[in-house]
Amino acid sequence: MPTHIVIFRFLSEPSDVNFGGKVHGGAVMKWIDQAAYTCAVNWSSQYCVTVYVGGILFLNPIHIGDMVEVQARLVYTGRSSMHIAVDIKTINPKTKVESKATHCVIVFAAVDDMGKTIPVPKWEPQTEDDKTMERYAIRLTEMRKEINEEMLLHFINK
Ligand SMILES: CC(C)(COP(=O)(O)OP(=O)(O)OC[C@H]1O[C@@H](n2cnc3c(N)ncnc32)[C@H](O)[C@@H]1OP(=O)(O)O)[C@@H](O)C(=O)NCCC(=O)NCCS
Repeated sequence: MPTHIVIFRFLSEPSDVNFGGKVHGGAVMKWIDQAAYTCAVNWSSQYCVTVYVGGILFLNPIHIGDMVEVQARLVYTGRSSMHIAVDIKTINPKTKVESKATHCVIVFAAVDDMGKTIPVPKWEPQTEDDKTMERYAIRLTEMRKEINEEMLLHFINK
């Protein structure tokens, strides 16, 4: 498997359930964080922390007993940051019905023992799809600037 992609596959379990009988959003967010963390550490060979996660698209519910595939794929690197696209797909093992469940782009930074950011190897897109995904990550970063400013104003100055 390429070093910029990490895939987790497992069954969703009864302990993942929410009050509506489907998989809890918090469980899905944990899978996103774990797969993306593994992808970031795998790429940088450094300890990494989550810098930003937003815009999680919960497109379809995940049912208990579904097979879940969480794919984390490095799509863009800055100096210390790694932008990782996470796609969650499911398949019902009985009916074979497949579903695209969740998508987001999460940003990690590599840090040293003091928690200071450190440079990561540059990701060079190879295929047309890689290039499209890199442009997508850059576009999201641009769009996020205004959101970040608004959120910081609210959080810091409150
Ligand atoms: C992440 C952290 C080390 C960044 O420290 P900092 O001194 O602010 O460093 P920077 O401003 O250079 O940001 C680091 C990188 O993250 C990027 N970044 C920062 N905020 C961002 C955001 N909202 N969206 C996307 N990228 C962001 C920066 O652009 C920079 O990328 P680059 O090095 O590739 O240019 C610090 O904010 C921190 O420790 N945060 C808490 C992390 C944490 O506890 N996570 C949850 C548990 S793991």
